[in-house]
Order: sequence, then structure tokens, then C-alpha cells
Amino acid sequence: MNKILPVITAIALMGLTLTACGQNNKKHNHEMKTLVAYFSATGTTEAVAKDLAEVTGATLYEIKPEVKYTAADLDWTVKTSRSSVEMQDRSSRPAILKDLKDAGTYDRIFIGFPVWWYTAPTIINTFIEAYGFQGKNVIFFATSGGSSIDKANAEFKEQYPEINWKAGKTLNHATKAEIKAWAEGLK
Ligand SMILES: Cc1cc2nc3c(=O)[nH]c(=O)nc-3n(C[C@H](O)[C@H](O)[C@H](O)COP(=O)(O)O)c2cc1C
Repeated sequence: MNKILPVITAIALMGLTLTACGQNNKKHNHEMKTLVAYFSATGTTEAVAKDLAEVTGATLYEIKPEVKYTAADLDWTVKTSRSSVEMQDRSSRPAILKDLKDAGTYDRIFIGFPVWWYTAPTIINTFIEAYGFQGKNVIFFATSGGSSIDKANAEFKEQYPEINWKAGKTLNHATKAEIKAWAEGLK
């Protein structure tokens, strides 16, 4: 009996260790730490971001420009407006407040923005370059006046190949139920 007991204990411990490893490898989605980061100039994308964070149990984070966009800045009919100038120079990197805590701890990062000139505003490049997100699952979402998100998906995938991109979606007028179904379908 004295000899058998340590053997039984060792086998039991091995079993426990193996079970724990198995669980770690198969991280379920409800255990994944998710971030919903968004930039919104006039509030439309912000509303969607809030719904998305709620239905996915994510941390909500606003990407804040150091200098806020005024209505004049957003006038796409004026070639010299701030947004027009930034979007004509795709290497522009509008400054942001770098106040995202624990960026490296998220398994999955949703990034939301308004479609500008058929793609993502260059402030999204600033955000990605500030935090890297190498090897992380990143998913775009956007609102727009009708344009699709496809161009942004393709451009960013090419520009930042070290990120594990998943197909993003335009969520114009999406209900909370639709947003939830989309987010769950990504798993
Ligand atoms: C500078 C600028 C450029 C835009 N370009 C497009 C575009 O190319 N296609 C489109 O469908 N909507 C375009 N829009 C409309 C926005 O994508 C749309 O209103 C969006 O929902 C605004 O989101 P927000 O309130 O979060 O900023 C543009 C808006 C601005 C201000």
C-alpha cells in the first residue's frame, strides 16, 4: 500500500496537468480577451462599436485623435480640408492619444472606423503602428454612406502581413442581433 499510493498520486497529477494543458490549447471564445477599438468622427461608428463590445463582452476603447476633426475638416467636397489632405497622402499618420492599456493582452481586436474615400482613415494606420498587434486576430468593422469595407480589408492585409486578419464587415444600420450573429460566426 505504501508503495502504491505515491504511484497513484503521480498518475492523478499527470492527468490533471494534461487536462489543464488541453484546456489552455483550446481557448474558447468566451474566454478570449477581446478589444473593440474604434475611431468615429460623428458618432455613427461609435454606436456600432458600443453594441459590438456589449454582445462580445469586450473592452471598449476609443481611438482619439490628438486634434479632433471639425466639420470643416470632414468636408470631402473641399480638396484642402484636413480629411482630404490626409487621404490624398496615404503616408499621413494623424497623431493619436496613446492611452490604450495592456494592448498586448488581447487575443482578438476589432477595429472600427468610418469609410473615408473608399477605405480606412489613415488614423487607423497610426493606431495599428502604435500597438503592432503582430500575430493577433484583427477584424475590421465600419460604417459608411454605402461603400464596402473590402478595399480597406485588402489594403491593410497587404500592408501589415504580420497580423492575422479576419474578413471585416460594413455594419451600416445593423441591429444588435445582426452584430452578435456576425461576431459569433467569426469563431
Ligand atoms: C472625409 C469623409 C469621406 C467619406 N468617404 C466615404 C466614402 O468613400 N464612401 C462612403 O460610403 N461614405 C463615405 N463617407 C461617409 C462616412 O463613411 C459615414 O457617414 C460614416 O458612417 C461616418 O461615421 P462616423 O460618424 O463614425 O464618423 C465619408 C465621410 C467623410 C467625413
